[in-house]
Amino acid sequence: MPSHQHRLAPTLAVIGGGQLARMMAEPAAAMGLPLRLLAEAEGVSAAQVIPDHLVGDYRDLDTLRKVTDGCQVVTFDHEHVPTEHLHALAADGTAVRPGPEALVHAQDKGVMRERLAELGVPCPRNALVASVADVEAFGFPCVLKTTRGGYDGKGVWFVRSAADCAEAFETAGSSAVRILAEELVDFRRELSALVVRSPSGQAAAYPVVASTQQDGICVEVVAPAPDLSAALAGEAQQIALRIAGALDVTGVLAVELFETDDGRVLVNELAMRPHNTGHWSQDGAVTSQFENHLRAVLDLPLGSPAPRARWTVMVNILGGPDPTVGRLYDGYPHALARDPFLRVHLYGKDLRPGRKVGHVNAYGDDLEDCLERARHAAAWFRGDLGNESE
Ligand SMILES: Nc1ncnc2c1ncn2[C@@H]1O[C@H](COP(=O)(O)OP(=O)(O)O)[C@@H](O)[C@H]1O
Ligand SMILES: [Mg+2]
Repeated sequence: MPSHQHRLAPTLAVIGGGQLARMMAEPAAAMGLPLRLLAEAEGVSAAQVIPDHLVGDYRDLDTLRKVTDGCQVVTFDHEHVPTEHLHALAADGTAVRPGPEALVHAQDKGVMRERLAELGVPCPRNALVASVADVEAFGFPCVLKTTRGGYDGKGVWFVRSAADCAEAFETAGSSAVRILAEELVDFRRELSALVVRSPSGQAAAYPVVASTQQDGICVEVVAPAPDLSAALAGEAQQIALRIAGALDVTGVLAVELFETDDGRVLVNELAMRPHNTGHWSQDGAVTSQFENHLRAVLDLPLGSPAPRARWTVMVNILGGPDPTVGRLYDGYPHALARDPFLRVHLYGKDLRPGRKVGHVNAYGDDLEDCLERARHAAAWFRGDLGNESE
């Protein structure tokens, strides 16, 4: 081996070519960390920026092995790689981070609820249901969720009567996934506690943020959550750190929470990858969630999650109902001229109804000003503002 060989960074395999993998590539480039990607198709978001990529199916073990061959560590852009394949990769000698035993709690909401109950973590009242009669016994109104495969509100149904349950059970019936019923939480707002943990056990907790969902999709995040008591913020961070430790999570763990009117937090769900509620950290924290995810899965010392500004507001750019409306590159002249402090992140995706194609971050001392700037810019890119004037 040439003597310089040991100075080369190990190649990190990343499964999944979405925007989260794309945004990992930015700190990877800065730190000189080579990435090898498994992309769903040529030209997807992350494949545009990671030259060392393969196109293939993450459900196929041989394909996964082609990607991880020669990599000491593999991590993920999404949570959908089958558990048995993760065990097989680990048996090959690749460090799977997060590992299959941890990841199952982000893959399966039923397993997650069971484990959190064992840990004594506060959750909404919940039960697995196999029939409409079970839901009636659980009580209306409630929320039904597919235990596996849901995202961005797909696989979540708000039900008030037996008739409302049909769609959920049709979905379950066709795919053999279990259905979870949860009490309908009348939350004050949704919070997110994001932590990052390395295999050595080092952990860092980001400030707790407030997130707004529309139709089940995260649209806006304010960091830190305004008017959140230090006690409740600390409790939310403690919950996230405790879960990360107990489940042996490596990399980012995002804990989605409900804040109730009587001042409690309940866990909604877990994500074990960089998360939409952490995108603010790219411009608003000393170390972004993407960089800390890379550091964690490579077992390097973590960077500070401390905020760089009093406030950071993240607003997602989503495709509107009409895919011909909206602008991406041609939104830059106005957006950038109006606000030289704005930070724009576009994912290299075409506009499609409801699709996340980017986000903007605005930081500063005045929350109202940050909200106005970020909302204006996102609306501009979406094409909600002044579309006729161009
Ligand atoms: N038990 C509940 N009570 C009230 N609202 C809920 C409940 N569960 C989920 N929601 C709402 O639905 C959204 C999506 O649910 P979630 O379980 O996070 O699914 P996904 O995997 O699609 O993110 C949540 O962010 C929240 O707004
Ligand atoms: Mg969610």
